[in-house]
Amino acid sequence: MTEQNLILIVENNAINARILADVLEAAGYRTLATKSGEDAIDKLTEVAPDLILLAVMLPGMDGFEICDRIKSSPKTQEIPIIFITARSDAEDKVKGLNFGAVDYITKPFQQEEVLARVQVHLKLRQRTQQLKDLNDRLEQRVDERTDQLSRSLNELQAAQLKLIQQEKMSTLGQLVAGIGHEINNPLNSITGNLAHAEQYVQDLLSHLRLYHRYYPDPIAEIVQDAEEIDLPFLSTDLLQLLNTLQVAADRIAHISESLRTFSRADSENTIALQIQDGLDSTLLLLQHRIKANSHRPAIQITRDYAELPRVACYPGQLNQVFMNLLANAIDAIEESNRGKNYAEIVACPNEIRVITELKSDKVTIRIRDNGVGMSQAVQQEMFKPSFTTKPVGKGTGLGLAIAYQIIVEKHQGSLICNSAPGEGTEFTIELPL
Ligand SMILES: Nc1ncnc2c1ncn2[C@@H]1O[C@H](COP(=O)(O)OP(=O)(O)OP(=O)(O)O)[C@@H](O)[C@H]1O
Ligand SMILES: [Mg+2]
Repeated sequence: MTEQNLILIVENNAINARILADVLEAAGYRTLATKSGEDAIDKLTEVAPDLILLAVMLPGMDGFEICDRIKSSPKTQEIPIIFITARSDAEDKVKGLNFGAVDYITKPFQQEEVLARVQVHLKLRQRTQQLKDLNDRLEQRVDERTDQLSRSLNELQAAQLKLIQQEKMSTLGQLVAGIGHEINNPLNSITGNLAHAEQYVQDLLSHLRLYHRYYPDPIAEIVQDAEEIDLPFLSTDLLQLLNTLQVAADRIAHISESLRTFSRADSENTIALQIQDGLDSTLLLLQHRIKANSHRPAIQITRDYAELPRVACYPGQLNQVFMNLLANAIDAIEESNRGKNYAEIVACPNEIRVITELKSDKVTIRIRDNGVGMSQAVQQEMFKPSFTTKPVGKGTGLGLAIAYQIIVEKHQGSLICNSAPGEGTEFTIELPL
């Protein structure tokens, strides 16, 4: 055995101290002796003994007090202490053990007994230390594994989100692109024929006027029919009606164009997009939710667009972000309208502001609403997939999680929220140029 262990002997009786030192050194231990408790405490700031032999009766601090001190300092509390007592002193032995000593040896010393007890406690200490190391290592391994697992879980959740988003995007994109495309053929036929129809109507009307000029007095039946169909009104209204149809057809063309802008096929590469086209087409698609209804006037949309350069981005995905943020803004406004009557809403009108700004190396897009706003607690959770405060069947809780992924991961931008309950909400998207 390599017994290089250091043993501190605290004993003011020089003879006893010498005997102990001799016995221990003969057995291969190193020893260090001090005569008082104060000395011992001093020594312990410099050396770290593997075991302490401590006399009860000492000048100044007695053994119990020193024991107490050693046991209450984190640096020394692990060092085993063996008390040195008189053989007869049962009370001291119990007291010593109560103060945290591991054992006692009695005077006069029995050489074998001293060595046996010292060896046992050194071995115990060594084993405890090994156990502690093992435990630490185990805990570290558990921590590492837990880390790995939670990282894998995060990756898995991100991958799942991405899949859902792609799926949502491709189904929605295909659907929207499909509708946009299908509308176009009948629409072209309407717009193309409307121009002819107007020309034909003009021709017919002027032909009618010609009749009237040369046959100013038609027979009674014609006069009566002209009255019945209110010919003068019909002639002017027909042209207006054709104009209205033209306006409506233009509007459908506009919507169809927006549908196609919105769903612009997402290639693997970025496309240089005029940001406001994306915002405008999204707002147009949400028109049915923005316009007036029986409970409230139309939501006021304020567009505050700066002159922006085209931004390299994935347009379909970016539009999906606009869609999610604007839909949330409308939801928040509807929520804030609950319990208010029409007049109250008119007095404090519903409003969404869409602001774009150009900074040196980025563009910012702000979407601000004066809806219910959000508590800090909601803001902390809102980007998590599946977090929603909306009733079952209404919200999936994916909107913001998807928006975050698209802006932060796909576009290396940032998505920041500023909101307070009752104060409305502002989302700021920053896209690097
Ligand atoms: N503009 C906003 N004003 C107030 N609360 C908002 C706003 N935007 C988001 N929130 C809160 O954040 C939550 C999460 O929004 P998110 O868009 O991720 O899911 P959702 O709108 O509930 O469901 P969906 O998947 O249909 O979008 C919402 O339920 C709502 O509580
Ligand atoms: Mg949403």
